[in-house]
Amino acid sequence: MTDGLTHNMTALEAAGERALPAAEDVAKRFKVLPHPAPASDEAWAKAMEELDFGAAYSDHMARAVWTKGEGWHSKQIVPFGPLTLSPAAAVLHYGQEIFEGMKAYRHDDGSIWTFRPAYNAARFNASAKRMCMPQLEVEDFVGAIAALVKEDAKWVPTPFGSSLYLRPVMFASEAFLGVHAASEYTFLTIATPVGLYFKDGLSPVSIWVADDYHRAGPGGTGAAKTGGNYAGALLPQEKAAEAGFDQVCFLDARENQYLEELGGMNVFVVRSDGSVVTPALTGTILEGSTRSAIIRLLRDRGTPVFEERIRLADLADDIKRGEVTEMFACGTAAVVTPIGRLASTDFDLEIPGTAVTLSVYNQLVGIQNGEEPDPYNWLYRIA
Ligand code: COI
Repeated sequence: MTDGLTHNMTALEAAGERALPAAEDVAKRFKVLPHPAPASDEAWAKAMEELDFGAAYSDHMARAVWTKGEGWHSKQIVPFGPLTLSPAAAVLHYGQEIFEGMKAYRHDDGSIWTFRPAYNAARFNASAKRMCMPQLEVEDFVGAIAALVKEDAKWVPTPFGSSLYLRPVMFASEAFLGVHAASEYTFLTIATPVGLYFKDGLSPVSIWVADDYHRAGPGGTGAAKTGGNYAGALLPQEKAAEAGFDQVCFLDARENQYLEELGGMNVFVVRSDGSVVTPALTGTILEGSTRSAIIRLLRDRGTPVFEERIRLADLADDIKRGEVTEMFACGTAAVVTPIGRLASTDFDLEIPGTAVTLSVYNQLVGIQNGEEPDPYNWLYRIA
């Protein structure tokens, strides 16, 4: 039985604590080939005003290639642009692919920082292991980010809550149709300036709990950040949207009873006794960096956080009885988003509260933007 306050680090959290060399040192691992025709001032100004997730990209991208026998090589910062890829590239056929989501933040003094990059690097390698892909040195992973952000520093926006969203990705680029682990992989990192992920800002979202589709099963790839998990969530997400809901939440595949996660976000429940509950890491959900940071922040405030199985039927009863006061979703892109309505085939319930959710949002974004103390050394200076 846990008291909800003692924090035992997971393997990813421990790997995320690793001390990193300075950004200027790891950035040197990537040779910069500057864009001959970067975005016009108008295109840049429009992107920085709209801050629309994934609508515009910075001038460059990081790239590296792994080939069997040679390992990682050709580490470069190159102009952002289309790739040349064989139609037989294994990723197009068998989906051997992983990615990460990270952000670069501009502080008031103009400096640029990122959040727990060693955690993302460790998760990238954990996903790579599960998907039978090569490991990437932490210094290369962070070096790609540092070099790209240094080169494209003007794309890091200023307003509170905005950032340059970074998307590291690795895929099987070998042109071969046999079903086996590829002998060539490409690593890229691209960047898009973003504001709030949901158009309505921090207003509560509505969630449909799917009982007819599952995101992941025991022994599957649910804990890996791989594209197929997200592709599989699209149809239930569309069905939920047609029924008027913003997002879909999945249940466990074995018993179809316990909350897992949203298509791309972890989920938390705030109880009237002041405690907070989130689904345990059973191997079928993603170990979110935001999830981990929130657990830590809440416990250090004295709020007990329990990582356990959450039975949907019990949750619905507790909401009806007023024993659940808030729910929220979290992820790197969306940060923290209140859930105002939870529905499934048997119920449709309002969840009115947002106080804890908003305080968590403000503290986390405050740390990321350099406006709140960072006792955990989560921030890593890039420029
Ligand atoms: C992120 O939160 O960074 C993700 O990768 C999730 C994606 C659905 C946007």
